[in-house]
Amino acid sequence: MTTSIPSEADWDYAPGLLEGAMELELTAEQCGLRYWLQAVPQGTLRGRPDGYDPALKVGPHMLQGPFYDAITQEYAFRALAEEKATRVLSFLVASAPDLTSMEFYATQLIDECRHSMVFRNHLLSLGVPVQRLTEAVHEFAAPYVESVLDPLEQRCLEVMRDERDFIGGVVMITVILEGALAPAAELSERKWRPIDPAAAEIDKGAGIDEIRHLTVGADVGRRWLQEHPKDKDRVVAMIRRGMEMWDELPTHDMVYDREVRFQAGLELHADIVGDYEIWPGRRLLDTTPQERQDTADAWSDDMKAKRLKYMGLEDALG
Ligand SMILES: [Fe+2]
Ligand SMILES: [Fe+2]
Repeated sequence: MTTSIPSEADWDYAPGLLEGAMELELTAEQCGLRYWLQAVPQGTLRGRPDGYDPALKVGPHMLQGPFYDAITQEYAFRALAEEKATRVLSFLVASAPDLTSMEFYATQLIDECRHSMVFRNHLLSLGVPVQRLTEAVHEFAAPYVESVLDPLEQRCLEVMRDERDFIGGVVMITVILEGALAPAAELSERKWRPIDPAAAEIDKGAGIDEIRHLTVGADVGRRWLQEHPKDKDRVVAMIRRGMEMWDELPTHDMVYDREVRFQAGLELHADIVGDYEIWPGRRLLDTTPQERQDTADAWSDDMKAKRLKYMGLEDALG
């Protein structure tokens, strides 16, 4: 029996994360549990239980030095962020007002749990012994757990667990967390592509899921606000507060740190990168940490603005 894989979840035909999140429209009605079973385990992930083609091996240049430092810090941080996202999503599943949104958020919960697993397990391919994995994740991510992850998690718990605020939670996840993190994920996929192709595939698979999370989340938010216009001011205030948090937390330092380490790797292993272009017309080797960070920030601003307009929340842009 063959199952049909929707093109937005098909490994070979899915658009990139930014393009998909900006251009596609998907709804929770379309993306229920049945859709997910066919589109994800039997579609996106077919032949890639660890998130990448098992034939791809990690090269020796990744096992020590600046590339090792850059990717271990990045993937450990993302493994923890995805773990925290999984746990807070359980409160969104619990407070979903109907079966349609409950099913969708239950699938998103499993997606985030899988992302946490594949980012974490990539550290094994990089030589971290399995008995030390949990400890190593916390050590590698340590510089930014207390300063970045904990406050964001705390805010999500207030909204989703303590206030059981479904729409607040949807908007927090879609605009403040995933909307802001998605461009960093796209940057990651593009920059690791020639250097650690398994990592780029892990990012690509997570990006395909993220297209669904962002587009469905925006649709759930938009429709809720059309039906409950009185909630709009409260939601706008919540987004503004979330965006302020993002500015106050040392997220820029964190990304910049990562990019500086990555740059040292580029200088050491220019032969591996060659003429690979990170975006059309721009060789990865010619880019700087600041340029890569600024580009991801610009993508993030574009995406946020478009998403907020779609939901009728452009007032939050101030
Ligand atoms: Fe994720
Ligand atoms: Fe997600």
